[in-house]
Amino acid sequence: MLGAHAWAEKAHLPGYVAYARANVVAICDIEVDRARALAQKFGIPRVYADHRELLADAEVEMVDVCTPTHTHLALSTAALEAGKHVLSEKPLAERAADAFAVARLAEERGLRTKLGFTFRYSPAIRQLHAWIADGSLGDIFHVHGFEQNSQFLDPDFPLRQVAPGAPRDRLIPSSVVGYGSHLVDLMRWCAGDFAAVAGSMHNFIPERVVRGEPGRQPIAVEDGTVALVEFGSGAHGLLQTSYIAVGNYPGVELRVYGSKGAAVARLIEERGVAETLTFASAHDVEFEAVTLPPEAFPPDTDLHTPWPELYYRNLVRFFVDEILDGTAPECTFFDGAKSQEIVDAIVLAHRERRWVNLA
Ligand SMILES: NC(=O)c1ccc[n+]([C@@H]2O[C@H](COP(=O)([O-])OP(=O)(O)OC[C@H]3O[C@@H](n4cnc5c(N)ncnc54)[C@H](O)[C@@H]3O)[C@@H](O)[C@H]2O)c1
Repeated sequence: MLGAHAWAEKAHLPGYVAYARANVVAICDIEVDRARALAQKFGIPRVYADHRELLADAEVEMVDVCTPTHTHLALSTAALEAGKHVLSEKPLAERAADAFAVARLAEERGLRTKLGFTFRYSPAIRQLHAWIADGSLGDIFHVHGFEQNSQFLDPDFPLRQVAPGAPRDRLIPSSVVGYGSHLVDLMRWCAGDFAAVAGSMHNFIPERVVRGEPGRQPIAVEDGTVALVEFGSGAHGLLQTSYIAVGNYPGVELRVYGSKGAAVARLIEERGVAETLTFASAHDVEFEAVTLPPEAFPPDTDLHTPWPELYYRNLVRFFVDEILDGTAPECTFFDGAKSQEIVDAIVLAHRERRWVNLA
């Protein structure tokens, strides 16, 4: 485990500890006290302050990169070069070309990869995807994706998503990167490759506290984006990302409309319930709530399990199974690179105020 802070504690480590086929042997953080604290909490035998020491540990077969965004590429590359399978938090890189290069490196070395696209591992989203795959929704016409919550509505809540040295003289893409990377991946998983995008980014809160800097800063962080999508299949899509739309975490909603039916997965934790799923057939038209069977959930979890743990227990166990059983990879670095390419295209569409083709 590389990185021993909030998301490692809330999502990744509970996933490994709950899965008997995985054994966390070492944890590393440059703030070594954080690594020590989580080693104690989760029963991890070895603690390192430098990733190179962890990568030299022969017992480590797979590395989990859960560090700040601007470090993912270098740490993932180093782990692959050391012969380890890698799970990386998203996004993999700041430029799509770098993400494709590290995806190719993994393939050349015969190593497995997974991107931390959390919401692919929601039971509701997996059911929705299964309905697309088995034809229950028919031909797909429209896909709508939202990731919006009010996490950064309060300008005094410190924002961590600004890379050191990011230029301050123009809009800094942020929600479209952090939230949008998830959404475009989900939409691509449902409806196939994107052919073209148009989009608009905006800064709604002009002054805010940025982690590590004193007081409120005048900083044009992009805290909301909308985009239109033409898929290669001819389907239409629309997406919205927002740091400042009132509503709870994670604030993901995926709506898919096809010739035979429609489904809406709503991943918004409310009154202790992590998510809901509804389905309407073309015949009956009214959306009905769908209750998933216990097998749709990781062992010992249900709709009342906190969502980071619920989704990461699935993500982690599926990756471990892919490595140990040699089964088909899903949600790899290549998917991360494709997502990055699409996010870059939305940013370009905004900057040049035009449609951008991806084909
Ligand atoms: N997939 C999701 O839904 C989701 C949700 C939340 C966060 N995230 C992502 O997870 C990552 C971690 O999030 P967080 O909130 O825990 O971040 P954080 O910045 O609070 O913690 C990251 C930790 O990594 C450590 N670190 C930095 N460089 C390191 C290095 N070279 N080697 C070892 N440790 C190093 C830091 O000291 C820190 O303790 C981020 O990229 C974030 O965007 C993803």
